[in-house]
Amino acid sequence: FRCSSSFSGAPKHIEHFSKFSPSPLSMKQFLDFGSINACEKTSFAFLRQELPVRLSNIMKEINLLPDKLLTTPSVKMVQGWYVQSLMELLEFLDKNPDDHKVLGEFVDTLVTIRNRHNDVVPTMAQGVIEYKEAFPQDVATNQNIQYFLDRFYMSRISIRMLINQHTLIFDGTTNPVHPNTIGSIDPHCKVGDVVQDAFRSAKMLCDQYYLCSPDVILQEMNLKKTSHPITIVYVPSHLYHMLFELFKNAMRATIETHESSKNLPPIKVMVSLGDEDLTIKVSDQGGGVAFRRIENLFSYMYSTAPAPPIGDQKRPPLAGFGYGLPISRLYAKYFQGDLQLYSMEGYGTDAVIYLKALSTDSIERLPVYNKTALKNYKMSQEADDWCVPSKEPLDLSSYKVTK
Ligand SMILES: Nc1ncnc2c1ncn2[C@@H]1O[C@H](COP(=O)(O)OP(=O)(O)OP(=O)(O)O)[C@@H](O)[C@H]1O
Ligand SMILES: *[C@@H]1O[C@H](CO)[C@@H](O)[C@H](O)[C@H]1NC(C)=O
Ligand SMILES: [Mg+2]
Repeated sequence: FRCSSSFSGAPKHIEHFSKFSPSPLSMKQFLDFGSINACEKTSFAFLRQELPVRLSNIMKEINLLPDKLLTTPSVKMVQGWYVQSLMELLEFLDKNPDDHKVLGEFVDTLVTIRNRHNDVVPTMAQGVIEYKEAFPQDVATNQNIQYFLDRFYMSRISIRMLINQHTLIFDGTTNPVHPNTIGSIDPHCKVGDVVQDAFRSAKMLCDQYYLCSPDVILQEMNLKKTSHPITIVYVPSHLYHMLFELFKNAMRATIETHESSKNLPPIKVMVSLGDEDLTIKVSDQGGGVAFRRIENLFSYMYSTAPAPPIGDQKRPPLAGFGYGLPISRLYAKYFQGDLQLYSMEGYGTDAVIYLKALSTDSIERLPVYNKTALKNYKMSQEADDWCVPSKEPLDLSSYKVTK
């Protein structure tokens, strides 16, 4: 094994691999890797090139962060993990795919990398908090950080997806709980079941914290095949993650606005399947959010939640970093979907998850580092071109025309 002094060669490798664009995979391609005629060698050969490409593309962007954020201990640490993982993967470039030992070592390396990167999100969040505390915020920097973190976390989701697929499919066992899944993908994922699972978990947390919880009413609309439950080719854990976050938010809002009343209005979930979209709407009567604030709910910088300490097992159950919504939206976008909030302040909120109904439309959405991305970082905030509404009413007396 090469010692860490060879990390000095890292910038050269990052330069090289960042010149390639990441190759987005479709759901079908993911499934093919897990089908009978797929082989571990192919997956190995693909990943030892593709993982360095994805890592290097995003590492180029880390370098574009404001210096003051880049030099925080947290961001330095994350950067170190990326460099180390890249170097470990490059060890496999000249290895023989026909050698079983090599394939085994590759799986071990992937598992090591996955574990190393477990705490990337809270660690980056810590870096942002350190930065926020030390420096006054300006709109342009906030925009840059939002742009970066969306792309950085999306890249991370995709890298973990690739690693999970390879390690799950080629560890030689079938998933005992879900024998029909291909890696982390369920070709017949029952959306209603995932809704119920996520609801139950959120309910448990909610009961612990508030000693009560609202009920759920689930309705499925499928104009074509009314008798079947709605299914989708999808990663159930991703769907679960999004729904769990939405339920926690909906429950908290519902309880906090109905503290004094005896019965809590239920959370309503509607799942509908069309030709193009599979849509899931989670509706609560939790008092809603002012329209002006909606965009900020997805912001990493404006997130108001106080930071729970890293590695603390006793996190506040229903609210943490304030990353619930932005990360959930990334999961939705990862396979070309979206997540949006429609709120009526004074009444409640509808959170809507849009997914692609067809697996042929479900293709990874990946950031690519090139001149266009670079330009987005360099673009300085133009001066505003809308008037600032004045607090003081204009004194119109000076305009008075003497009769
Ligand atoms: N359904 C909702 N009704 C009212 N307010 C909501 C709703 N969903 C989200 N919010 C507001 O948006 C904020 C951000 O939500 P988000 O889930 O991103 O973070 P959080 O819940 O504060 O923390 P966590 O990271 O644990 O999710 C919440 O703190 C809350 O004020
Ligand atoms: C950057 O990559 C995207 C996606 O491949 C492409 O649409 C865009 O034109 C590229 N920009 C440049 C300047 O090459
Ligand atoms: Mg939340």
